[in-house]
Amino acid sequence: MILSTIVTVVCAAFTLKVSALKNPLIRGWNPDPHVLRVEDTYYIAVSSFNVYPGIPIYKSKNLADWELVSHAINRPNQVPLYSSRKDFGIWAPSLTYIDGTFYMTSMSMWGSDAIARTWPRIFWITSKDLKTWSDPIWADPYGIDPHFFHDPATSKDYLTIMGLNNGYDQAWGISQCQVDLESGKCGGTGVTHRASIARSKSPEGPWESSPTNPLVFNGANTNLTIGNTGHATFSDTPDGKWFATLLAKRYVGKHSPLGRETFFAPVTWKDGWPTMNGGKPLLMSQSFNFTPDQTWPPPPFEDTFSGPDLATYWYQLRTPYTKNYRLAKGGGVVLIPNVFTLSDRDTPAAILRKQLSVNMTFTATLLRTHKSLNEWESIGISAYQSESNHQEVGLRGCANSTSLCLFTASTINGPGPGVRPDTAETPLNLPTIPKDFQLHIRSEPKLYKLGFSRGNTTVTWVKEIKPDALPSGFDGAMFGLFASGNSLPWEWDGAEVGFRKVREVYGEERYDDYIRS
Ligand SMILES: *[C@@H]1O[C@H](CO)[C@@H](O)[C@H](O)[C@H]1NC(C)=O
Ligand SMILES: *[C@@H]1O[C@H](CO)[C@@H](O)[C@H](O)[C@H]1NC(C)=O
Ligand SMILES: *[C@@H]1O[C@H](CO)[C@@H](O)[C@H](O)[C@H]1NC(C)=O
Ligand SMILES: *[C@@H]1O[C@H](CO)[C@@H](O)[C@H](O)[C@H]1NC(C)=O
Repeated sequence: MILSTIVTVVCAAFTLKVSALKNPLIRGWNPDPHVLRVEDTYYIAVSSFNVYPGIPIYKSKNLADWELVSHAINRPNQVPLYSSRKDFGIWAPSLTYIDGTFYMTSMSMWGSDAIARTWPRIFWITSKDLKTWSDPIWADPYGIDPHFFHDPATSKDYLTIMGLNNGYDQAWGISQCQVDLESGKCGGTGVTHRASIARSKSPEGPWESSPTNPLVFNGANTNLTIGNTGHATFSDTPDGKWFATLLAKRYVGKHSPLGRETFFAPVTWKDGWPTMNGGKPLLMSQSFNFTPDQTWPPPPFEDTFSGPDLATYWYQLRTPYTKNYRLAKGGGVVLIPNVFTLSDRDTPAAILRKQLSVNMTFTATLLRTHKSLNEWESIGISAYQSESNHQEVGLRGCANSTSLCLFTASTINGPGPGVRPDTAETPLNLPTIPKDFQLHIRSEPKLYKLGFSRGNTTVTWVKEIKPDALPSGFDGAMFGLFASGNSLPWEWDGAEVGFRKVREVYGEERYDDYIRS
């Protein structure tokens, strides 16, 4: 799917179409971007935290249109994430192209805990075509934010990480070692500690810190719409211009529901040192003379689940132990519910998509059923941030009658022992799920709404939620489809439940350079 952005600048008296690149580059939570150019093609890998498949790889020929081409982690046994908590999972990938092979190096945060002395583990996996990926090779040193450098002069390979001096003092700094790509072993190290950017004539040092540091920093003015800038990597274009990709948030008031997105900044060089965006903060109004137009809003998105498999933009939570969905003949996705809910640190029967805009509606049409649901059996949609913060609307068996009930459920800073989701239900007088039943999430800049409708009738909105119910962490909001036995097994001959269609409709966005109160 092509992700693109708005480029229409409205001036007082006329509309001017700008032929240039706008931020964000890749919408929805896509943090820790690492950019790589191979000939005329750009690739960006981003962090995936707790979702599966992991490490999305985007591709572009023009810097404006980014296609999600694959995931480096696409087999459950490559880097399993079981019971990982929010903000953990798989972090900070980088891409390197060495002698016809792509190397994606990243790190797993299973249960990193400096007191217990459990550490982030670095690994890399390889691919020649970006479709088939190897099993991981685990690196010797522990740390975060790994990156390879292949020295064309000597053909030696170096692994650069943010590491610790040792497990006791735990002082963080950039360190680098010569690495064997086959075994993951490090040797012959020249260790150095620097922040931002440092340069050296040789990978062995000595290193000199840049007078232009910090390279990009919107944090000095917290009134700027674009905040949390960082994690930049550089690339050049085939015609010799330089740019960086970085992560940043777009703020609406004090919130940033979409989390950390992939951003762009131009880079210039002077006396061998880089400057990003002319040394100035990034502004929403800026456009960069690098590419043709991006457009926003795009046409509505629709998925009828009629392909041979789920499309690449659907994610599951953590690593699935078993398959918990299947595609129905003739379209639709059937969920195979288990005991787990969105509050469990496990893999419920749920598929989710990243939220792309703060002005959009997510609509899901349910598959009809021939049976009713028990009171513990639920199906619905979720505005989801993590196991601690998510908001649902859906159908379940009513507690005190044989009909179906519409329910809403809210988990805020949960779950914990004895803490149940705040939930409410209304009988619908429906024995089974009809074929035209739809659930909706409406996102506005400062509000989420949950609702339902039948056929072409107008939506009945049943609940409003403030964005602070979905506080972005290391990742941002997603919209998901789920079904659950809510701690009990789904009846073996229970209703077969799922969704026939998902549709998203996007609206204009109005972000100023400074946060509007
Ligand atoms: C941010 O805006 C507020 C209200 O307009 C103002 O008082 C404050 O000085 C601004 N802060 C900065 C860092 O510009
Ligand atoms: C179901 O009925 C019981 C007993 O009358 C009552 O305590 C309970 O609150 C009812 N549950 C719902 C969801 O209405
Ligand atoms: C809903 O509207 C669409 C398009 O306007 C139409 O094709 C369809 O028949 C309508 N469905 C119902 C149930 O009225
Ligand atoms: C959302 O998009 C619609 C349609 O483009 C537009 O009319 C509306 O003003 C937008 N809302 C906001 C808050 O920008």
